[in-house]
Amino acid sequence: MPDDGPDLQAPAEALRGARGVVVLTGAGVSAESGIPTFRDTMQGLWASFDPQQLATPEAFARDPELVTRWYDHRRLGCAACEPNPGHLALARLERGVCARGGSFTLLTQNVDGLHRRAGNTDPVELHGSVMTWRCSETGEAVAPPPPPEPWPEFPPESLAGAPVRPDVVWFGETLPEAALERSFEALSSCDLLLSVGTSAVVYPAAGFIEVAAANGARTIEVNPKDTPMTPIVTWALRGPSAHILPSLVEAALGGE
Ligand code: OAD
Repeated sequence: MPDDGPDLQAPAEALRGARGVVVLTGAGVSAESGIPTFRDTMQGLWASFDPQQLATPEAFARDPELVTRWYDHRRLGCAACEPNPGHLALARLERGVCARGGSFTLLTQNVDGLHRRAGNTDPVELHGSVMTWRCSETGEAVAPPPPPEPWPEFPPESLAGAPVRPDVVWFGETLPEAALERSFEALSSCDLLLSVGTSAVVYPAAGFIEVAAANGARTIEVNPKDTPMTPIVTWALRGPSAHILPSLVEAALGGE
């Protein structure tokens, strides 16, 4: 137990006893990996572009070259980063919960692919992933070149002759139905929800904490700052996730 952080004993005990665990993550879990936030990605050549203007179906229809260049820049940026101790702790938590016959579901709003690379087996990627791309007409997956290779042309073109787009959810688009179904199924049966590094303001993910709490689950929030959900969570652990999650998971699983 670190003596410079929050008291982890009660939340660690709840995590140890839980049969169904849901983890919800946001951009904060990747902060210590150096993944730029939505706003920080605008550097150098991209400094004069507003991401909110680029991450829309309208922007892609208007200027597919610009939008795919920007997303490829993000894809290669994410590929150059590594999972941090917070990601690794969540992969360890999944193995521990599953090894004792419990259920574990990781719901992430991040598009960086770091939970998979850390070892979580099947995260629900609510906003998609910049690592996978698809034909904008047929929806068929089109694999990008392995990093650090960029796409050879912008926009990339599918076999159907249509521009290829990143498999992410843009502003104004709906979340993938299968991802929402898996989310609500897990939320309805979990007894513990761990929310990490999310400002908890973007719905429906923000509402997941309320849904789990309404179903009787206990809730833990890991964030250096208060969020709109802080007043309703059972335990709010203040600090960076790369520091808190390894200690919390060690306290919960210890020796397992
Ligand atoms: P935000 O950028 O809204 O919030 C990041 C949260 O992480 C904040 O609450 C920070 O306090 C917290 N944070 C910062 N550093 C941290 C650290 N080291 N450890 C733990 N927490 C830390 O990101 P999200 O909540 O993920 O949507 O935002 C949700 C969605 O809003 C994104 O997926 C994106 C955006 O619009 C789409 O792109 C569709």
